[in-house]
Amino acid sequence: MKSFESKTVIVTGGTRGIGRAVSLALAGQGARVIALYARSRKSAAELEKEALGKGLNISTIRGDLTHDDSYHEVVTRLHDECDHIDILVHSAASGVHRKAMELSDRQLKWTFEINFFAVHRLTRELIGKMGRGGRIIGITSPGGTHVIPSYTAVGSTKGAMDALFRHYAMELAPLGIAVNLVCPGLVMTEAAKALPELERMLNVTLDYTPSGKLTTSEDVAEVVAFLASDAASQIIGQTVVVDGGKTLLA
Ligand SMILES: NC(=O)c1ccc[n+]([C@@H]2O[C@H](COP(=O)([O-])OP(=O)(O)OC[C@H]3O[C@@H](n4cnc5c(N)ncnc54)[C@H](OP(=O)(O)O)[C@@H]3O)[C@@H](O)[C@H]2O)c1
Repeated sequence: MKSFESKTVIVTGGTRGIGRAVSLALAGQGARVIALYARSRKSAAELEKEALGKGLNISTIRGDLTHDDSYHEVVTRLHDECDHIDILVHSAASGVHRKAMELSDRQLKWTFEINFFAVHRLTRELIGKMGRGGRIIGITSPGGTHVIPSYTAVGSTKGAMDALFRHYAMELAPLGIAVNLVCPGLVMTEAAKALPELERMLNVTLDYTPSGKLTTSEDVAEVVAFLASDAASQIIGQTVVVDGGKTLLA
């Protein structure tokens, strides 16, 4: 039997980048996956087509999680389509890249809306559908604990997410729901390509990564799949770093 047969999985940002790889990895082990996304119908259609070709159960729901009407449409569909949810993966994120002194309140609030408030709102909304054996996994970033150039806004949201997940882990462990974070190093997704100073970051990452290679979305997805598995039931409130050892170096 495949590990996630009969499991229902929700992956926010599940149609692109790291989230897409997570959707495919969990569906590849038998899960029914619902991948949420905001705008890119093309990415969603491509994922559904790939899933169909591979015989995987992946459907998608479009909706901006920061927009009230759109958020309510998404959760109404999730309530209609899922009588239970086993695994919730928060991969969706966005944000403004600015130096701290150039960052406006509006830009910071907008970044918090998707990377922090939408995470909490959706978790609170869906928790009633989860039970013993459940898993909540967030994708955080080294920018939550370290400085990445012009990553002030996203890094701040990730630091806040790290704290939020510690509280989730504490509150939900007694209910049999394990909460953890995965922290990837630089992964060359579309989002990463928009980073200022990307060229320099790539060179530094390659120079200072002991494994000698960049982390891929699939590397991250495999770790998410492990944390989602029964084997990881006693791992609670941890952040698993997937970066080829880069953070070992001072
Ligand atoms: N890439 C890296 O180097 C890296 C490193 C560390 C951590 N991370 C984290 O890993 C996660 C995935 O990153 P990624 O690089 O794979 O990003 P990505 O390729 O840009 O994918 C982001 C996903 O989030 C969705 N999304 C964005 N805004 C949304 C909104 N308002 N409502 C609903 N969905 C929304 C996007 O939907 P649409 O495509 O439809 O807009 C897309 O599916 C993020 O949490 C990121 O912070 C990434």
